[in-house]
Amino acid sequence: MDRIIIRGGQRLVGSVRISGAKNAALTLLPCALLTDGMLTLSNLPRLADVDSFGHLLNGLGVSTTVAGARTGDGNDRAMTLHAGEIASTVAPYDIVRRMRASILVLGPLLARAGEATVSLPGGCAIGNRPIDLHLKALEALGAEIELAAGYLKAKAPSGGLKGGHVSFPIVSVGATENVLMAAVLANGETVIDNAAREPEIADLCRCLVAMGAEIEGIGSSRLVVKGKTSLHGADYRVMPDRIEAGSYACAAGITGGDLLLEGACADDMVAILDGLTAAGLTVTHESEGIRVTAEGRPRGLSLSTAPFPAFPTDMQAQFMAMLALGEGTSTLTETIFENRYMHVPELARMGADIDVQGRTAIVRGVDKLVGAPVMATDLRASMSLVLAGLAAEGQTEVLRVYHLDRGYERLEEKLSAVGADIERDSDG
Ligand code: EPZ
Repeated sequence: MDRIIIRGGQRLVGSVRISGAKNAALTLLPCALLTDGMLTLSNLPRLADVDSFGHLLNGLGVSTTVAGARTGDGNDRAMTLHAGEIASTVAPYDIVRRMRASILVLGPLLARAGEATVSLPGGCAIGNRPIDLHLKALEALGAEIELAAGYLKAKAPSGGLKGGHVSFPIVSVGATENVLMAAVLANGETVIDNAAREPEIADLCRCLVAMGAEIEGIGSSRLVVKGKTSLHGADYRVMPDRIEAGSYACAAGITGGDLLLEGACADDMVAILDGLTAAGLTVTHESEGIRVTAEGRPRGLSLSTAPFPAFPTDMQAQFMAMLALGEGTSTLTETIFENRYMHVPELARMGADIDVQGRTAIVRGVDKLVGAPVMATDLRASMSLVLAGLAAEGQTEVLRVYHLDRGYERLEEKLSAVGADIERDSDG
């Protein structure tokens, strides 16, 4: 099994090109099911989850053609997807269990084919992650959904889904995406209240509009969708990954470095950049992207995760690693997922001083971390271990790096290009 080996202590300097966003790509890919035209997605990141989603769509009858070689420092990979016909409406357990985002075929299949059979996603390291809000929202558009043998069996009413009113009790990114993709082909108007406002949702809306959909309130918590009888094909460019960019910003912070995050979008990262500034880093907006510069140790601070535009839960672990070497004490409160501190005992193995009390982690900054073998448990937790390894004395070995490959494109290449001593060992 692959492992990543890092010899820490290098100050990172240079520029990192930010890839297309994983969490945007995973909701743009199923849009191909909504039309019999061609959907071409460019700036598509090379990630295990994107490949898995491609396989899932192939099983439903979607043809996928990948074009564009990787250039020196960039990625112009594009995938053309074509669902001339829906050959199957079944998303099998074997794919869904490896990638929860598979649930995002439910809405589009219901809207286009009038039915869907989707394996219920199993458990997840970071929390229970139920999908009740997805189901309630689709039922508000007239779907009938039952659970049988671990599969959701969903049917649209004859004549197709109907416009309706959805009001989410809590903000859910996935449920908003699923009902949005269903509503664009429903008969009549759908109003979605307390919708998620994450930039990936706005990216989804823009892509759907490029395909002929009609959506008002993009970027707000109230979305109004006028259903169409059909959508057409489109060419769409995936937005830059704000979480990947934030992760590299923390790499600058923890190594006292100076990195240009090429192609990063500041408007999508306000809370992240505010957090970096509060920790004493310098954030500069340049024409090619965002420059993050660190002098000395980060300052301690208090952060609480919450839905966009607040501080994202997907940045909590990376900030924790950076603040583990900060001046003073920090408090981090995780309000979205109930089990998102799996990285704490691993950071402690490297000498971090962190106490978890319920949803809050008290991080007392230490002078140094020391390299050790550590175990990745989920995507962002594994990035926090890589960050700690970049600053630690000696060698760190991160095991189970398949977690990283799900969300970080060419991680070792990007980090070694700015001075990190990092390599992947595939014989481990
Ligand atoms: C998306 O997950 C992201 N994944 C997650 O990123 C991210 O952490 C999360 O949004 C929050 O920002 C993708 O986009 C593929 P939610 P999602 O529905 O859609 C509860 C990463 O590291 N909930 O907004 O699954 C849920 O349990 C990943 O890239 C229900 O109770 O998140 C959670 O506590 C990890 N019922 C909260 O809502 C539901 O039906 C927010 O979940 C749905 C959600």
